[in-house]
Amino acid sequence: MAIPDSFLEELNARTDIVDLVSGYVSLTKKGNRYWGLCPFHSEKTPSFSVAPDRQMCYCFGCHKGGGPVNFIMELEGVGFVDAVSILAQRAGMPMPETKSEESSRKRRERLYELNKAAARYFYQNLMSPAGRKGMDYFRERGLSRKTIRNFGLGYSLGSWDALIKAMAELGYSKQELLDVGLVVKSEKGSIYDRFRGRVMFPIIDLRGNVIGFGGRVLDDSTPKYLNSPDTIIYNKSKNLFALNLAKKSKQERLILTEGYMDTIALHQAGFDCAIASLGTSLTSDHARMIAQRTQEVVLSYDSDKAGINAAQRAIQLLNKTGVRVKVLKVTGAKDPDEFIKKYGAAAFQKLIDGSENQMEFRILQVKNQYDLTQDDQRVACIQELAALIAHLPGSAEREVYGNRAAKDLEISPETMQREIQRSQRRQIAYEKKQQARKVLQPVQMNQPESRALRYDNMRSGKAEEGVIALLLNDPGLMVGAAGLAPEDFTVPLFGRVYQIIRERWAEDRPVSLNVLGPELTGEEMNHIASILQSPISQSNRDRAMEDYINIIHTQQLKGGDRSGLDDEALMAYRDRKGMEEQK
Ligand code: UTP
Ligand code: MN
Repeated sequence: MAIPDSFLEELNARTDIVDLVSGYVSLTKKGNRYWGLCPFHSEKTPSFSVAPDRQMCYCFGCHKGGGPVNFIMELEGVGFVDAVSILAQRAGMPMPETKSEESSRKRRERLYELNKAAARYFYQNLMSPAGRKGMDYFRERGLSRKTIRNFGLGYSLGSWDALIKAMAELGYSKQELLDVGLVVKSEKGSIYDRFRGRVMFPIIDLRGNVIGFGGRVLDDSTPKYLNSPDTIIYNKSKNLFALNLAKKSKQERLILTEGYMDTIALHQAGFDCAIASLGTSLTSDHARMIAQRTQEVVLSYDSDKAGINAAQRAIQLLNKTGVRVKVLKVTGAKDPDEFIKKYGAAAFQKLIDGSENQMEFRILQVKNQYDLTQDDQRVACIQELAALIAHLPGSAEREVYGNRAAKDLEISPETMQREIQRSQRRQIAYEKKQQARKVLQPVQMNQPESRALRYDNMRSGKAEEGVIALLLNDPGLMVGAAGLAPEDFTVPLFGRVYQIIRERWAEDRPVSLNVLGPELTGEEMNHIASILQSPISQSNRDRAMEDYINIIHTQQLKGGDRSGLDDEALMAYRDRKGMEEQK
């Protein structure tokens, strides 16, 4: 949904960023900024700053930042529109929407309410004498009352229409019950309760809406778990169980398990960052959601064949997103739930800490990429494995895994070890070369982390930063930029931002971080926020603009200068200018 600028601007005006951030972070005023402990990474001394005059926040530690909307997106783990709507609600502004959006929203809201009522009903069953069996089951599995309440667990009675009746009393129709998948239509056209005599697990999205259910039998009958079908409010491949809880975790990772019970057992044992996919294998959407929220994911799947296969698949998907993947090997128990019961939380923490070097998994992963019946592919596979094993720090490890790989690929251990040594030599030579290059090119150290934001020409890149910072502070400076085209920028992000600002300025529309929000990724926004951190002098801005543009054009003619020394010169130049202002 496109949100009108005017709405975003009014929202910005009605939101006091200090007040907003204070709701989550305790802030202390120093000069014209406020400081506190960053809510996005854990730290002991405050590096998170809020600048009310610029209506933005920025963390000098983890480099996240932006306007009020970005703050909420990051903190609540929601998208742009959701963040705007949270702020709008806070500011008492109804969200703008079209008629059809309104009716579809109302329909969805009604279904959320129905699901919530059903969850409440299942919970009440569980707490009542009629739900005794369910309560006994959860007790036997070691769940505390607090856990049951925390997850909103429940029980469905062994009846064909108990839920239908209870929901009818609250005014919900047959069709609505069908729409959320709580009932099933028989061939004759009548409806009956989908979940009967099962313990119930509500599935809750990131905004706290109940979107579906899983229900487990109490005995060995099948199917063990029954799940809500996909509906207009529930998409299994885009939701993860317990992510609503895990997103609040202070732990710096997510633990991905295979099932409801594993996740719940982990939470109860203090691992409140556990999540699970919902009766389906992991999808690329899941992988993306995970990578958006954490740098590291620990796979904690069952130790059986199915679990290993699922982990393989998950690793491949997660690897594509760049998130760090650790695989946890649960030994002596069939799944994490059983492991914790047998050995305790401390032992599980040890597993996590020691889960780094899961060579078996990685070896298997490499092997799966090759057709080992083909000679040439086998050779390639041996070489890739040798490179993988050569990276191991210990010679004992290299020998153990080398021998294992040799056995798998039916070659002699000696040959494998020779391959490994060759690969090691090659790596050392490569690293030496890299090292030498680094010494020659200090410029590389000044690069933004993301490859998408790399500066090919540092001198021009820094000047482009200056242009963008000036324009975001005062779009009126565009007057002096007539000769500067978006194509002149060497950093694509700045070119894009420049173009947006220019178009808006030409149409006399407002320019702010908020309106850039929907156009940029989170990382890009963080980068823009970071460049707004250096002080901008209040006078002589036209002059500064002119200087920056000159640098960009000169660099363009030169075809780039990568020595990096110019960068320092420019910084010194900028600093000097700043000082002159203060005189
Ligand atoms: P598991 O069989 O490992 O279940 O299936 P579990 O979560 O460990 O449950 P307990 O410990 O036996 O009670 C893993 C996940 O696969 C889905 C569920 O999401 C389950 O949590 N599943 C399993 C189904 O959707 N349907 C089934 O019939 C079985
Ligand atoms: Mn289990």
